[in-house]
Amino acid sequence: PLRPTLPADILARKGGVPIVCLTAYTTPVARLVDAHCDIALVGDSVGMVLHGLPSTLGVTLEMMILHGKAVVRGAEKAMVVIDMPFGSYEEGPAQAFRNASRLMAETGAAAVKLEGGVHMRDTIAFLVARGVPVMAHVGLTPQAVNTLGGYKVQGRDADAARVMADAEAVQAAGAFSVVLEKVPEGLAARITQTLSIPTIGIGAGVRCDGQILVVDDMLGMFTAFRPKFVKRYADLGQAADAAIADYAAEVRARTFPAPEHAFPDVVPVKK
Ligand code: KIV
Ligand code: NA
Repeated sequence: PLRPTLPADILARKGGVPIVCLTAYTTPVARLVDAHCDIALVGDSVGMVLHGLPSTLGVTLEMMILHGKAVVRGAEKAMVVIDMPFGSYEEGPAQAFRNASRLMAETGAAAVKLEGGVHMRDTIAFLVARGVPVMAHVGLTPQAVNTLGGYKVQGRDADAARVMADAEAVQAAGAFSVVLEKVPEGLAARITQTLSIPTIGIGAGVRCDGQILVVDDMLGMFTAFRPKFVKRYADLGQAADAAIADYAAEVRARTFPAPEHAFPDVVPVKK
């Protein structure tokens, strides 16, 4: 039976068959993701991938709601998780609840995701206690790019204890899963072993409980930059470029439209 995936289903997948996740920002892509994945994430990466922003910092709640609505329309069985954008939750638990409840109520998403570990503990607990399932996100947290000093690997050497503490803190606060972004594979494996909630890796090696990628990255549609952890499963950007070049050449040569794409002046009589 087609029933949407829920946070409890994801929690129950700990240590089992890996949890398959991709981002989605539109209805057609959500339909494609829904056919094969457990989770469709409306990531704030939408700002960089679809809106041309230089980082995720300029993404607004209104943008997330618009894309969230589109994704929910295309997802029947995958769980839709929606990112809380920069500035919509960091002031404190009350602000976070006000905006998380809007994201869920206005889009129909089943859960929110927010960035941060130890310092988000109280906020996550506040949300979970009030009916907002939370996916956490630790390691490289792109909304903190300016304080982190770039999109660097997190948790190498002495820094490993910080990432482990962050992961333990979000679990204690009640998160139903946690994204580990750009952390060394051995550390990600240790965090996965230590936690009782599923870890979803991106640039975190194969020993996480699940994986996520930005769908436009893995399809070769977003090519402005390419982190090491992105595997290209298709080259749709190149295919689209070739198709648009053909169209432009045919319009200039007046070979498009051909007669079969045009309407005759006289209605043909059927015999
Ligand atoms: O915004 C996003 O796409 C994300 C995933 C890459 C985890 O947060
Ligand atoms: Na994000």
